[in-house]
Amino acid sequence: MAAEKICEQLGQFVSHCADVSKSEPEELQNYDILLLGVSTWNIGEMQDDWDEFIPRMEGLDLSGKQVGFFAMGDAIGYSYNFLDAMGQLWNVVKELGSPQLVGIWPTEGYEFDESEAVYDDNHFVGVGLDEDNEPDLHDERIKGWLMKIMTDCELLPS
Ligand SMILES: Cc1cc2nc3c(=O)[nH]c(=O)nc-3n(C[C@H](O)[C@H](O)[C@H](O)COP(=O)(O)O)c2cc1C
Repeated sequence: MAAEKICEQLGQFVSHCADVSKSEPEELQNYDILLLGVSTWNIGEMQDDWDEFIPRMEGLDLSGKQVGFFAMGDAIGYSYNFLDAMGQLWNVVKELGSPQLVGIWPTEGYEFDESEAVYDDNHFVGVGLDEDNEPDLHDERIKGWLMKIMTDCELLPS
């Protein structure tokens, strides 16, 4: 649902919206900009479809690409592992040719204790969406994050 919302808002800028469970890793090499979404399960663990996909990504070359992340998580139920899988996924992706990270997102406005998705003192690697506690903030967060993505990727007219 989050991916569909993102595609809808990006409109003409999206060339392909895919489900990781029905995709091949090589497909990632076909695009200049990748927006990867992942949820965290089982207390700080990778979501199942990604868990199967990640080992098959070995050997991919994502150099020169720009990569952004969005993630589903539960800040109240899993406050010590909030959005962990997003940080884990970035750690995998950055080893595949050092692609450029775009769309880092402020941690301000989220209440959590610990997260592997923290990028620096006040940012996550990408945007966090908390369907369990803050679904009303999705639209605003996605909109703001996409604006950041467009800016980082220099897609906005100057
Ligand atoms: C058993 C279980 C474990 C979860 N573990 C985490 C977790 O460690 N960290 C987190 O941020 N969210 C956690 N969540 C919350 C999910 O990531 C969240 O509900 C998300 O919206 C699920 O999205 P999906 O159904 O698209 O995978 C967990 C949820 C369940 C049911």
